[in-house]
Amino acid sequence: MRKIICTAAMLAVLCSALAGCSKKGDASVSSEASTTQPAASATTSAAEDETSETAAPEYHQEGFDYMALVNKREPLPEGWEESLETVHMTNSVGDDVEVEKKAYDAYLELKSELEAEGIYVDLDSARRSIAEQQRIMDDFTETYGADYAAKTVAQPGYSEHHTGLALDLYLIIDGKDVVLNEEMIQYPEIWSVIHSKLADHGFILRYPEGKEHITGYGYEPWHIRYIDDVEKAKEITSKGMTFEEYLGIITDGRPAVDCGSSELFSEEELNEAAVQVKCSFADFDRCVLTKLRYAGDEKNNADDLKLAKEYGRNDEYTQVIAFLADFTASENSNRFEAGEYKDYPCWLARTDSDGWEIVIWGGMTE
Ligand code: DAL
Ligand code: ZN
Repeated sequence: MRKIICTAAMLAVLCSALAGCSKKGDASVSSEASTTQPAASATTSAAEDETSETAAPEYHQEGFDYMALVNKREPLPEGWEESLETVHMTNSVGDDVEVEKKAYDAYLELKSELEAEGIYVDLDSARRSIAEQQRIMDDFTETYGADYAAKTVAQPGYSEHHTGLALDLYLIIDGKDVVLNEEMIQYPEIWSVIHSKLADHGFILRYPEGKEHITGYGYEPWHIRYIDDVEKAKEITSKGMTFEEYLGIITDGRPAVDCGSSELFSEEELNEAAVQVKCSFADFDRCVLTKLRYAGDEKNNADDLKLAKEYGRNDEYTQVIAFLADFTASENSNRFEAGEYKDYPCWLARTDSDGWEIVIWGGMTE
């Protein structure tokens, strides 16, 4: 019987804290963990992490700052609302959309440049209140599960949409509104043209493909962010950076992802799971992910499934898989002791109807 030696049950704990969901049980730390791999340093909650962070750089300036960072760790700056000036517009489906004033002007310029090339876009969503964000989070959690929601929707208070500077576009193709995420993603050529014009108008693509381990969110071709600086936007875009990398928070490239071969899962299914792992990795402070690989079909066995049910959020899981991560944790990482980590496993499971959920980060032994 295989047994989990959970060196890092913290992710499940963290997910619970972040997503407001409950986890059935914590695994205990085994002494074997510290001999086979460096042990995780803490199992603190997200709330504790916010306060325990040492010497955190300041990403928020006084007053209205077009370069303000809002992400999974950085909330909307205090006092933002007082200096925010917005305009309201009605989109092609009749929804009212509120946008920061300058960002809206820049958007109109972008839109008209795109129209000259036969590409039509509109605004699905821009500024959101905390209550609206909560409603979206609740909807997604209910419909798709907590992990999918966590990689798709920001926690209220931590969404860039609160700033009014984040704009979600949708496409209008042959006069038809293409609004659903799964439909919009079918038009990579159109997004590529749109993305090539963002920087000229002071926008960046905020959640690029392949950088999920930094942003903590899956690829969103529609989510653009106004930074009010064409030169900076051009630099960020030409270097293929995330906003976090530009601001120097993370100096990380793109990890090698190897989904290997599987008789059980399609490439798409494996990629989905890999993105889930990368998004959750973004919660590890000062850790640089270098490689991620699929651990093989043999991990989807009855013993591991039993453990997944025990440690995960759902006792109806039907499949379980593992990915192995190589990463470096620096001093001051809030999750791991400093060092090189190799083949560090992350376990995911799913039911017949729902997507992959992270069950646990940690070692396994026979
Ligand atoms: N979809 C982005 C991450 C948000 O909810 O702010
Ligand atoms: Zn968005």
